[in-house]
Amino acid sequence: MVEEVVSTATKENRTTMTDAAVNPLKAGLEDVVVSPSEICYIDGHKGRLIYRGYDVDDLVAQSTFEEVTFLLWQGRLPSRKELDAHLKALASTANRKLPPKLIAMLKMLPKKTTPMEVLRTGVSALSAFDPDAADNGREATLRKSLRLTAQLPTLVAAWERIRRGKAPVAPNPRLNLAGNFLYMMSGKKPTPLATKTFDIALILHADHEFNASTFAARVTAATLSDVHSAVVAGISALKGPLHGGANEQVMLMVEKIKDPAKADAWIHKALADKARIMGFGHRVYRVEDPRAKHLKRLALELGQQVGDTSKVQILDTVVRVVGAEKHIFPNVDLYSGAAYAAMGISTDQFTPIFAMSRIAGWTAHVLEQHGNNRLIRPRSDYTGAIDLKYVPLSER
Ligand code: COA
Repeated sequence: MVEEVVSTATKENRTTMTDAAVNPLKAGLEDVVVSPSEICYIDGHKGRLIYRGYDVDDLVAQSTFEEVTFLLWQGRLPSRKELDAHLKALASTANRKLPPKLIAMLKMLPKKTTPMEVLRTGVSALSAFDPDAADNGREATLRKSLRLTAQLPTLVAAWERIRRGKAPVAPNPRLNLAGNFLYMMSGKKPTPLATKTFDIALILHADHEFNASTFAARVTAATLSDVHSAVVAGISALKGPLHGGANEQVMLMVEKIKDPAKADAWIHKALADKARIMGFGHRVYRVEDPRAKHLKRLALELGQQVGDTSKVQILDTVVRVVGAEKHIFPNVDLYSGAAYAAMGISTDQFTPIFAMSRIAGWTAHVLEQHGNNRLIRPRSDYTGAIDLKYVPLSER
């Protein structure tokens, strides 16, 4: 009897198992359209990325991360007056600083706690201190989104200092978000090239349509949960090595290869061993990720500034071999780590840095979801048994 029931859930007739009108199964929801959205467009065949109508290449050339956050949240570019007010709010100490009790809480964590664990825990705790915590209206969510965007760099930098036994550095309201982050990490004013590179990296990571972490944030928001909870969901999804964690894995690979002269043989062996090469492949792009070229250029410029271009040389060889053997292209995570490493940033901070930027996208998506909400509740393709006869414990 059991076998018979199980056999009804085979591949051939599995769509009949669910009583709703069901689409054919798409593993990993590949190409499934979940909802309309006006925030971000990806052309996977032409390799284009558009935020609110603007090509990311133009934003990299002419905009700033701060302006991009306004664009993503408000749906349009700001006037001079609006931008000035926005810059002031994002840079203010009131918005950037962490509650002293949160710093005390960070100091209680074991030093081995990873920066992503700290970020996930810290954002969750920040909601307890937020004056708008109980208000889920659009204006309050905008204020919370801005505060979180201003607080995240302080949180990431504070943990870097605390885990090294140093005192956190107070935010400097005269520095932009990128420059201030680098300053709070090291205690030294960053070079203009480092600040500009970091700002561009933030622009490039700010949004990417319905990627896994944004979808997680939207699913959370769609229950009418608050923006802090949605961001915690986003951080949790970003943490995995198939998503934001890939940039750390790329750098671990570069560290293993060490010498550009050994890269060719190393990567051939990895491919022969059927290894998944981090920083390559994408669910949507069928050509090179449009963000990769910017990060490659910046990683090279920064490498030249610090007198070490070996990481970029290793990655260039990896790109050549993986492209020829597997016909897959670099994604955003391939070169970003080499740029961050040239700024002296530890490898396990790469994914938190990704989150410091993607917070702009997550929060824009929460605002959009709340603006036209319906609970996100898909169906499963049930392949288990049905109608099993319950056997009392005494008879098993
Ligand atoms: N290294 C080696 N092979 C890869 C690969 C990679 N990075 N990415 C994809 N492939 C291969 C798979 O082995 C598979 O080949 P097969 O059909 O012969 O089995 C094929 O390409 C499709 O891979 P699949 O995992 O089904 O694609 P996906 O759309 O589910 O995965 C990613 C997309 C991003 C998860 C995937 O490309 C990956 O794991 N990349 C590495 C992690 C990474 O860089 N993530 C950051 C994304 S921005």
